[in-house]
Amino acid sequence: MEWGMANRLAQLIAADGRCLFLAVDHGYFQGPTHKLEEPRKTIEPLLPYADAIFVTRGVLRSSVDPRRTRPIILRVSGGVSMAGKDLSHEGITTSMEEALRLNASAVGLSVFVGSEHERESLLNLSRLVDEGEKYGIPVMAVTAVGRELEKREARFLALACRIAAELGARVVKTYWCAEGFEKVVQGCPVPVVMAGGPQVDTERQVFDFVYDGLQKGAIGVNLGRNIWQDDFPVAMIRALRAIIHDKATPQQAEELYYSLKKDEIQRIG
Ligand code: 5RP
Repeated sequence: MEWGMANRLAQLIAADGRCLFLAVDHGYFQGPTHKLEEPRKTIEPLLPYADAIFVTRGVLRSSVDPRRTRPIILRVSGGVSMAGKDLSHEGITTSMEEALRLNASAVGLSVFVGSEHERESLLNLSRLVDEGEKYGIPVMAVTAVGRELEKREARFLALACRIAAELGARVVKTYWCAEGFEKVVQGCPVPVVMAGGPQVDTERQVFDFVYDGLQKGAIGVNLGRNIWQDDFPVAMIRALRAIIHDKATPQQAEELYYSLKKDEIQRIG
């Protein structure tokens, strides 16, 4: 692997082989998502605990201080919205030159396997990989399901992840699933990171699935709503960090979360 590519991957994935990417790109099709209405306010307190942030160029420029930041994974696909008919009809929104100008460590785009625009999104991935490899910029493929959340099962996820890896993604983001997640990871010859999807009912559910996914071979997370939609997002990201980088169990993470939450409540009175 060439030096630039290896160096960028090392910025994203820590020496322990693990990573915690903070996903704050949701506005690119959802608009002012709950608790991400003012991106700067959401992002700033969480930044010190993220290994990288997944963000569009618009939010990066407007809401992230270039002097106090973390490695950037630039979201470069879009062109659709929640108000439109079909979330799968994305194009590439941002050039590789722009990614270089913004000093991105990687770029990310969604692929929509099984959708009407499957072919287009996969060819977008291939084109992006060709461009990225020219400049040593890794591509993270996001195996998206659009509104069809029920697609988050092993057979579909394994298919999507493998195809993304075959087309040249250096990292693949997918969803954790209760049954057969190890097969999803085993069938994907590049590192897999897990997204969370809509906020779940309890913090413990997040700790459990992240822990389980790591035991089954994922290298970390690209997590958004289950961090910043939590009432105590800093406690949440720090507890997740303990699982990912410090080998904490879900029980230990939960205890850390509650102790940080207690401190925070005392601090704000
Ligand atoms: C949005 C994305 C998100 O980056 C990804 O889904 C992670 O966020 P969350 O944990 O909230 O699902 O790709 O399209």
